[in-house]
Amino acid sequence: MLEQAKLLLKSEYEKCLQVVKKDNFYVNYTTEKWVHSRQVLGAGNFIIKHEPWFQKQPDDVIDAAKTALLLHDVARFEEITRRFLEGIKIDHGERAYEKLKEMSEYDEWLVAFAIKHHGHVKECFYEDESYLALKDENLRDQVEHIFWLVRDADKIANFNIVCEEREKYLELFLPSPDKVDYSEKKPTEPILHDFYDNKTVDYSLRKSVPDYILAFLSWYFDLNYKSSVVFCEKLNLPDKMFAIFEQYCDDQVLNDKLKSYLKDYLKRFV
Ligand SMILES: [Fe+2]
Repeated sequence: MLEQAKLLLKSEYEKCLQVVKKDNFYVNYTTEKWVHSRQVLGAGNFIIKHEPWFQKQPDDVIDAAKTALLLHDVARFEEITRRFLEGIKIDHGERAYEKLKEMSEYDEWLVAFAIKHHGHVKECFYEDESYLALKDENLRDQVEHIFWLVRDADKIANFNIVCEEREKYLELFLPSPDKVDYSEKKPTEPILHDFYDNKTVDYSLRKSVPDYILAFLSWYFDLNYKSSVVFCEKLNLPDKMFAIFEQYCDDQVLNDKLKSYLKDYLKRFV
């Protein structure tokens, strides 16, 4: 399955690139998704290797898990193409599900369904009617673990690409200057409130650039596996992300406080 997935991803990427090739922003955006998809597989491989649950799974489940990792953003390319050509925004998780479940080479549950809600709040997965109707306990357990895997690896890869290729890709994660006042150098109260509640920040509340970065940092509160925390620490990602945050937030006392708050939170898992 994984080998076919590589070909599928490449062809979707190339098709999209062909459409947007004259627009620098979109070329960068498309390329980032291509690099990101492969980094998600890399981060996921680390989790698979270190989490005891995966070590007990048969080869076909591991193959499906790796396929889900690689293809989780396969419909991003369609999303980008439609945004570029028609100004339309589609849900790339839902779209990937619709697309992959029609393709017999991909497992409907372990690949297509595990991807469907990767970008949504977790409740969307647990409240999905088809998941609720699924009676096979073992399959439910496998789908859930792959869902967690994709979510964690997706976050780690996003943290990593922003920290390691900041000049090229950070702008894709920040609001455009016409949306947010870049002279505002502090996070706002509701965002801090969510953060100190160990919650992923409510995106609709973001008002300043530090809000956007803190919302991004709050993804740490949504990691599911211990190995994910270990991997982030290994790559020194929390420190690197705070170095970015500090560029946009001028309150050094607050920066230090938030950084030690997050690091103390992460220590509980390692
Ligand atoms: Fe992703």
